[in-house]
Amino acid sequence: MKQSIGIDGPAGAGKSTIAKRIASALGIPYLDTGAMYRAVAVAAKRRGVSFTDEDALTHLVGVVDVEVRYENGAQHMLIDGEDVTGELRTEEISQGASLVSRVPAVRDRLSDLQREVAHRERVVMDGRDICTNVIPDTPYKFFVTASAEERANRRMKQLVEQGQSAHYDTILADIIRRDKQDSERAYKPLYCGDDTKKIDTTNLTIEEAVEAILSEV
Ligand code: DC
Repeated sequence: MKQSIGIDGPAGAGKSTIAKRIASALGIPYLDTGAMYRAVAVAAKRRGVSFTDEDALTHLVGVVDVEVRYENGAQHMLIDGEDVTGELRTEEISQGASLVSRVPAVRDRLSDLQREVAHRERVVMDGRDICTNVIPDTPYKFFVTASAEERANRRMKQLVEQGQSAHYDTILADIIRRDKQDSERAYKPLYCGDDTKKIDTTNLTIEEAVEAILSEV
């Protein structure tokens, strides 16, 4: 274990932006573990496997090859050798990832892959169970959060900037549903452990949140 940095928190709290900045400041790789669950959701969708069919998902995750690759510093996800990175960021796959992540076999398989990375090199990893399950022995554990309304506002702004249509109420409802699914699932749910530093970014800039973490590591 090379004292990697774990960052957990709910959807849309700014984890990935913060994690990327920490990784670049420290000169180490960033692993987005949500992308791995999203890739499994894409694999399920392509094979016509329902996001709620636990038996079929358990089988799927045993036979499909999930690979993380870096190209020019950017993380790519490969399923059976095919790059599916471009398909990960839709609302359907966001929901699908949250649903498939409830299945123990899916979580165990992906957690093992994440631990392999952390054993090999020091990384910054963000997700939902990094501090509580994947690398609980690291001293550098953070929980980045913000109010659901603030997270919906940020997502709304992002979509508008990308020229996409956005409805605040729908975005807020999606965020609340995903929070509930991720924190109430039976197996390895999202929570902030006692030994994890909580950083509420509702009234913080990204720079302030990054500084709060860097000052600890
Ligand atoms: O971080 P994200 O929004 O890309 O994650 C997508 C879903 O994947 C999230 O709603 C729950 C699941 N996930 C998880 O259960 N554990 C992780 N370490 C990362 C993501």
